[in-house]
Amino acid sequence: MTSVLFGKDILHVKDIKLEHISLILETASRFEQVLASGGRLKNMDGKVLAILFYEPSTHTRLTFETAMIRLGGNVVSTLQGILTSSAVKGETLYDTGKMISGYADIAVIRHMQPGSARELADGATIPVINGGDGSRQHPTQALVDIYTIQKERGRLNNLAVTLAGDLKNGRTVHSLSWLLGKYGPRFYFVSPEELRMPAEITQSLRDDGIEVVETDNIAEAASKSDVLYMTRLQKERFEDLSLYERLKGSHIINYELIEKSKSGITIMHPLPRTDEIDREIDNYEGAAYFRQAANGGLVRMAIIALLTGCE
Ligand code: CP
Repeated sequence: MTSVLFGKDILHVKDIKLEHISLILETASRFEQVLASGGRLKNMDGKVLAILFYEPSTHTRLTFETAMIRLGGNVVSTLQGILTSSAVKGETLYDTGKMISGYADIAVIRHMQPGSARELADGATIPVINGGDGSRQHPTQALVDIYTIQKERGRLNNLAVTLAGDLKNGRTVHSLSWLLGKYGPRFYFVSPEELRMPAEITQSLRDDGIEVVETDNIAEAASKSDVLYMTRLQKERFEDLSLYERLKGSHIINYELIEKSKSGITIMHPLPRTDEIDREIDNYEGAAYFRQAANGGLVRMAIIALLTGCE
């Protein structure tokens, strides 16, 4: 029997239901146990993942590649797609979707344009995964984050969670707030005034009965939170670089902040970090961001396998 995710795309977290999350988390956990016991997986033997990245990435791209390799499959890729793919010659993402469907079994796209993954999926007949479209969405990162919170905190329900940093441009926090909202959290959104969470997201959460506190005071929010999810300022999305220079360093996680935080607070970050988490915090036992990055490979293994019916 194939799973409810077989043949589907993952383009926006709004399309992801609670039963999908449970299935992805269970599958990732199963794969984690197999790998931890020294086992090898061949679920994607003979299958090909197309990696279409038109915007820089280290973590998403490498974890997708690693995931496919650990499942016994292969990858083809357009790295620096904006420079070296047929997009330079005017090929549309719709046509790219049609073309890759002829030789790949599943595709992941990273693109600077919101809606780009949807355009690729409209042309494709294979499952398409959104690996980040502009400042809009990064659904697989949110699933990695959920898996990490479950592992670090032992539950997903009724947590107090601070999302901090560039909430305006950060697609990871956009996706995570929608997805975590399904588990009845209390949210603290911490950012400079200029980088607040889009009103559409905040309002939608409040309409669903979720308490959202917007503040510039990270210490106060951290003193009440189980999880502090920090993000970098998205320099590449600032039209006015003097604004970036003025706002960078507005919120920094260091031991002074940890001392004011709720005991045992979990620190997360989608990476890459710039200066918003002091390196000394890497030694704090609640610093989960490198474990979170490692979880990326496991969760993406589960996603690839489930969408292709190879779980
Ligand atoms: N977390 C994340 O999306 O990182 P990359 O931009 O390196 O893929």
